[in-house]
Amino acid sequence: MTAVFIEKWVYGVFFLGFAFLALIAFYFVRNVSSPLWKKARESTTALFGHIEESVSGLEDIKGNGADEFLMKRFHEVSQTDFKNKNKAMIVSRTYYAINVMMRAILNIGILVVSHYLAAFLDTDPGVIYLLLTYGTNLLWPLRLLLWQIEQLQNSLANIERINEFFQIETKIIDDGETVFPEGKVSLAFDNLDFGYSENLVLKDISFNLESGRKIGLVGQTGSGKTTLARLVFRLYDPKSGKIRVNGINTKNFPLKELRSNVAYVTQDVELFKASIRDNVTFFDKEIPEEVILDIFKDIGLEKWYNDLPNGLETIILSDECGLSAGEEQLLALTRAFLKNPKIVVLDEASSRLDPATERQIEIALEKLLHGRSAIIIAHRLTTLHKVDDVLILSDGEILEYGSREELAKNPKSQFSLLLQKGIEEVLT
Ligand SMILES: Nc1ncnc2c1ncn2[C@@H]1O[C@H](COP(=O)(O)OP(=O)(O)OP(=O)(O)O)[C@@H](O)[C@H]1O
Ligand SMILES: [Mg+2]
Repeated sequence: MTAVFIEKWVYGVFFLGFAFLALIAFYFVRNVSSPLWKKARESTTALFGHIEESVSGLEDIKGNGADEFLMKRFHEVSQTDFKNKNKAMIVSRTYYAINVMMRAILNIGILVVSHYLAAFLDTDPGVIYLLLTYGTNLLWPLRLLLWQIEQLQNSLANIERINEFFQIETKIIDDGETVFPEGKVSLAFDNLDFGYSENLVLKDISFNLESGRKIGLVGQTGSGKTTLARLVFRLYDPKSGKIRVNGINTKNFPLKELRSNVAYVTQDVELFKASIRDNVTFFDKEIPEEVILDIFKDIGLEKWYNDLPNGLETIILSDECGLSAGEEQLLALTRAFLKNPKIVVLDEASSRLDPATERQIEIALEKLLHGRSAIIIAHRLTTLHKVDDVLILSDGEILEYGSREELAKNPKSQFSLLLQKGIEEVLT
């Protein structure tokens, strides 16, 4: 630019005005393209989310003949992604179109200015050639700047999305400082209300589980059993009411301490593509091998373990080692054992197992629950025979609560009805 000013100030002014106009044009295009890139990122995330879901649920999908629906959905999601990316690309490409247009305008401008002002400016062909070359040199850095702005836009759109994730704050406030009690503990719910949204899923739940006792929880599907289990583990906080351990509100314990003392065995066992050791220890390298092997022996996994190709280092969810539903549940129980918890919350799997495996799980459970306070969400009548108290939930409310023996003695109780007809008959 300075060189052009030195050569001929008129051209310098022309070049300066031109560069200014070019930057304004680019600035406007940039503002249009940034939100389009953001939308494209979102639809790509949705597409990959859909693929991930389809792959992980492959068995269910095939089993239920949902292939066609899933493929249709896949086409819809990928079409949206294609359209969004296309729009963003087209707007980005207009940068280049504008760039080429600007170059043409500049060259024509130089020639027109030279032609009409030839008399005043004393411009010879050599100078015109020089100006045309300078013009190209002026646009090259602008084009580079554009390319960098485009890269920056992409990165800004990414950063914006990452920021959105970081801004999601957990609603669980972890500021308790009370040390978790030693020895056996009691667990109580006091007038607890909870809902994932405005609608309450649990209403006015109160019960008292004395230390070392077990409470069996039954109720129709959707009655709030799993939700109650999640609340004990403090995955959510109640809307109103309290959960107390030895009389102390669980909010008063540091979250880590509460969760290390409560073992929550979920209804669906989640295993990672990792070694068996990492799967049961949750990547805690401190836990010695013997401890894990002792538990395997205790719960009847010894034979299964001895047949593994690489022992504890065998990778799960690969060709090397596929697990049966029963083995998965026994591994979930191993996880719970390793925690040596004071409270066990067990959401019994609703899937049916063969009688031998079921018996094996029963034995493992008896060992795990011995001397510990436990909430057992029961889907089978046999599980209920082992509990001290029974709580029947109906639509988020307590329908019946009391000691198992007393409820069984009372012929009018819902529990007696359950014992006569079976859980499935009464509760579904
Ligand atoms: N993460 C969630 N977000 C919103 N609503 C949920 C969530 N989990 C469960 N619900 C709703 O809360 C209610 C209780 O669900 P919950 O899973 O506690 O039932 P459940 O008694 O465990 O059923 P099941 O016997 O089928 O396991 C249901 O209406 C369910 O749709
Ligand atoms: Mg459930």
